[in-house]
Amino acid sequence: MAQPNWQNRTLWTGDNLDIMRGMNSESIDLIYLDPPFNSNRQFAAPIGSKAAGAAFKDTWALSDVDEAWHGEIADKDPTLYAIIDAAGLSHGKGMKSYLIMMAVRLLEMKRLLKLSGSVYLHCDPTASHYLKTLMDSIFGAGNFRSEIVWRRSNAHSKITKQFGPIHDTLLYYSKSEERIFHPGVRPYTRAYIEDRFKKRDEHGRYQTNYLTGPETREGESGESWRGFDPTSVGRHWAIPRSLREFLPSGGNGMSSHEKLECLYQQGFIVFPKKPGGQPMYKQYVGSGVPYQDVWAYQPNTRGVLYESDEHIDEDVKWLEAEPEKVGYPTQKPLGLLNRIIRTSSNKGDMVLDPFCGCATACVAAEKFGRQWIGIDLSPVAATLVKSRLKEEMGLFYDVHHRADIPHRTDLGKLPSYKTHKHTMYGKQEGICAGCLIMFPFRNMTIDHIIPQSKGGSDHLDNLQLLCGACNSMKGTRSQEEFIAQLKTAGMRQ
Ligand SMILES: C[S@@+](CC[C@H](N)C(=O)[O-])C[C@H]1O[C@@H](n2cnc3c(N)ncnc32)[C@H](O)[C@@H]1O
Repeated sequence: MAQPNWQNRTLWTGDNLDIMRGMNSESIDLIYLDPPFNSNRQFAAPIGSKAAGAAFKDTWALSDVDEAWHGEIADKDPTLYAIIDAAGLSHGKGMKSYLIMMAVRLLEMKRLLKLSGSVYLHCDPTASHYLKTLMDSIFGAGNFRSEIVWRRSNAHSKITKQFGPIHDTLLYYSKSEERIFHPGVRPYTRAYIEDRFKKRDEHGRYQTNYLTGPETREGESGESWRGFDPTSVGRHWAIPRSLREFLPSGGNGMSSHEKLECLYQQGFIVFPKKPGGQPMYKQYVGSGVPYQDVWAYQPNTRGVLYESDEHIDEDVKWLEAEPEKVGYPTQKPLGLLNRIIRTSSNKGDMVLDPFCGCATACVAAEKFGRQWIGIDLSPVAATLVKSRLKEEMGLFYDVHHRADIPHRTDLGKLPSYKTHKHTMYGKQEGICAGCLIMFPFRNMTIDHIIPQSKGGSDHLDNLQLLCGACNSMKGTRSQEEFIAQLKTAGMRQ
């Protein structure tokens, strides 16, 4: 695990691809990204709003540079290439171009995440299905955790002859099984508690609920206990997790019947008056229901919460209160980011938002004691973030605004890149990596694939041999621009 090569509270203005490429590997705990959605729109903040002047494009056309990227993906990751190609065939060139833009960035994000890290990709149904296949391929289908449906408004009346599109999708993946996950709970409303949890004992309010689950099972969980046979009604004993705290050692090492008996002796299981009826367990109110994968913004939840103020759900408060709007196009509510940050990071962890806009994720990270870094192309975004952090968090100090490209410091001390020329000549078999023509050793020059001026390292992986003509053509261009230019000039197929 590497140390970050930037400071906490850094706001970067620039293309996130260049910047992420210069960041040390495995140095981020949580990434939230809210990229353009490929919605074929041009966003601009209203004149007079704090964000006036901020704009970004969300329209994509396939360019030569995209094709060059695609070629690079084909070499490095043929599965990803096939997925993007298929999307291009079924949806069109604009989608292909958009997915290429996303794929190269998601590959960098995977490199930046620690093994215990998580990523939340915010998108909408325009491209969520294609993005999910990209994420499966890059992070691994086994690391898919949830598809969260976030209901962002009540109704959409402008669209006819289809259901109003009122939700966004968040694709949540982890880098491995080791992920951090503390889901919060949504407290019940007073009305719900009064309606359902009508009984009381010394442990508090409760309702009775089934102790069995659907389908029959072999073994003790399918056998009769105290005269009731779950198999006879097509079910099996299923003791809920909430009762484990009442069992010695959480019930570890106990059989199903031993657990049932222990709970019954303590009064947590009740039998109906009618003989032969199914026993039920006492389900206490507890703190609420753990968050599920539909994050509805639910009007009227606030104010009807049970008992004391400590039950008030912070996220609901934020979702309903909207004075936080600064007018930035596509600004997301803090409540949404609060929930993500609290669920998938710990205090002191490093949070990255590579498409930060007016930095909602950075404000939420600051609020909960996390470190953060935000990147956005638009310089207006940086100005806005600074004033927002000042107003909302009182942060007059310590926000580092950068527009340079960072240099990785996690590659160790490297020998001079010039020492690699012979090895590279052998590896490339004397062929120029630009025009693909063979040249004698003396005519070859060493080129940095990601230019040194853009953070490219002297590592062998970032070096190639070019003939003199190709090297001057490349200059400080990216490899993709260079290849696109060679093709346009007819110097390469
Ligand atoms: C949907 S908005 C993000 C809104 C943000 N979540 C908020 O709450 O304000 C997308 C942002 O991505 C930025 N952006 C687009 N392409 C980018 C790139 N290649 N690098 C960095 N930022 C980019 C745009 O300037 C825009 O601010």
